[in-house]
Amino acid sequence: MDSDLKGRTILLGVTGSIAAYKAADITGRLTEAGADIFPIMSAGAANFIQPLTLQTLSKNPVASDIWQEGVGWQPGHIELADRADLLLVAPATAHCIAQFAHGLAPDLLTSVHLATPAPVILAPAMNGKMLKHPATQANMACLRGRGYRFIEPDTGMLACGYEGPGKLASVEAIVARVRDFFRR
Ligand SMILES: Cc1cc2nc3c(=O)[nH]c(=O)nc-3n(C[C@H](O)[C@H](O)[C@H](O)COP(=O)(O)O)c2cc1C
Repeated sequence: MDSDLKGRTILLGVTGSIAAYKAADITGRLTEAGADIFPIMSAGAANFIQPLTLQTLSKNPVASDIWQEGVGWQPGHIELADRADLLLVAPATAHCIAQFAHGLAPDLLTSVHLATPAPVILAPAMNGKMLKHPATQANMACLRGRGYRFIEPDTGMLACGYEGPGKLASVEAIVARVRDFFRR
C-alpha cells in the first residue's frame, strides 16, 4: 500500500462532464492506494455516473444533495470540509471552475469548496472552445492566483466530436499528481 496516500482524506468532486465515468477508476485507484475517498457529485454528474458506483469503490457514502445532510447536529458539508486533506475535482467542468472562481455556493460541492481549508486540485475536462473561452481562461487564471493546482487536460479526440485540447488528463496522470502532492 502506498504510504503517501494511506490515511489521507480526499474529497473527490465529480461534475457534469462526459468524462465523469472516469471518476470511478480514479476512486478505485486512490482507494486501493490507501486514501479515504469521499465522493461529492454535482447534480449534473449524476447524469453520467451512478452514485452507487462511487460508493462501492470508495466504501464511503456519496454526497450530492446539500438538503439531505448527515445525522449529526453539524451540517455534513462542514464536517466533510473540515477533515479533508485535499479537494480534488475530476472531472471539473467549465461551470464548476466558474463557480469556484466566483465563490458561488449553490450546491454541496461548491459549498464544501468554500468551507474547506484543504488545498484544491482541479482536472478540467471540456470542449476545446469552452476551454479556450476568455471567461474560462480568466476563471482558471483567477484560481491559479489563489494557489489552486490544475492537472492540464490532454489534446485529442473529444467526446463532442471535435479534436483539440480539453480531454480529461489520464487517470494515471491524475493519480500520479495526487501522489506527488502528498509527497511534498
Ligand atoms: C452530453 C454532455 C456532455 C457534457 N460534457 C461536458 C464537459 O465535458 N465539460 C463541461 O464543462 N461541460 C460539459 N457539459 C455541460 C455541463 O454538464 C453543464 O455545463 C452543467 O451545467 C455542468 O454543471 P456542474 O458543473 O454543476 O456539474 C456536458 C453536457 C452534456 C449534455
